[in-house]
Amino acid sequence: MLIASLVATNLAAFALLAFSVRKNLEHKERRKQRGLFSPWPVKRVPPHAVIPELAPGPLGPTRETEIAFIANYRVPGAISDLETWILCNLAKRAQLVFEFGTATGKTTYLFARNAPENARIVTLTLDPRTAASYQSAAGDEAAARVSALEESIFEEFVYTGAPVATKVTQLYGDSKTFDGTPWLGRCDLVFVDGAHAYSYVQSDSRKALAMVRPGGVVLWHDYSGPRGAHGVYRALNELARDIELQHLAGTSLVFHRRPH
Ligand SMILES: C[S@@+](CC[C@H](N)C(=O)[O-])C[C@H]1O[C@@H](n2cnc3c(N)ncnc32)[C@H](O)[C@@H]1O
Repeated sequence: MLIASLVATNLAAFALLAFSVRKNLEHKERRKQRGLFSPWPVKRVPPHAVIPELAPGPLGPTRETEIAFIANYRVPGAISDLETWILCNLAKRAQLVFEFGTATGKTTYLFARNAPENARIVTLTLDPRTAASYQSAAGDEAAARVSALEESIFEEFVYTGAPVATKVTQLYGDSKTFDGTPWLGRCDLVFVDGAHAYSYVQSDSRKALAMVRPGGVVLWHDYSGPRGAHGVYRALNELARDIELQHLAGTSLVFHRRPH
């Protein structure tokens, strides 16, 4: 009887210890993902630190930052509502916007809705006809290819048939073979949101940085820490050694303004 009760007590103590070790590890993992132990290499700043027009007034965001908007309510591959507000405010002052990765075309449409009358929005994507041209490279994570192809299924877009569709140039094809020469140094805003594999983020970033004009902005999506899109995290951490990048707090956007 005594032995049975001792065994039961020890088992309970062991279970409690195992539970608290597991909770502790989970907690550490969450802190690591949030950058509390070792901060993510791209420095986090509030969006208005780099985009002053977003500075809140005493009542929060100002009326000047109002945009035409569709919520991210179960939209595949889409950006968050806060990210939409930031990007569309930049589009309000842009004549030429280039987007890597169209998906449903929700962001493309909102760029077109919010940009000035004579603006042009150029967006590049894989679609069912061009998806086979995707080129993995050594070091790319297999999951990135799977999700890129899963998102390359759209043949109609949110902007299709809308009055602002006349502002949109839709390009199809693989971004590694895409030739950005016609846009070199011309874009006010480049949004990099195509394939998330390391080799693609490197290649798309090189092109984006060549296509943006002096004083223009490049924004990358999906910088979400060591447990997020790893190719994006790795490629942007490396890029941050060479150029100034900022991670916009509350979002997975990384910001770069090309110096004049
Ligand atoms: C995350 S989604 C883009 C979401 C969109 N920017 C938005 O805000 O709604 C990624 C897109 O990149 C496209 N894509 C993936 N790999 C690509 C590649 N190698 N070349 C061009 N586009 C690619 C996919 O077809 C998909 O449309």
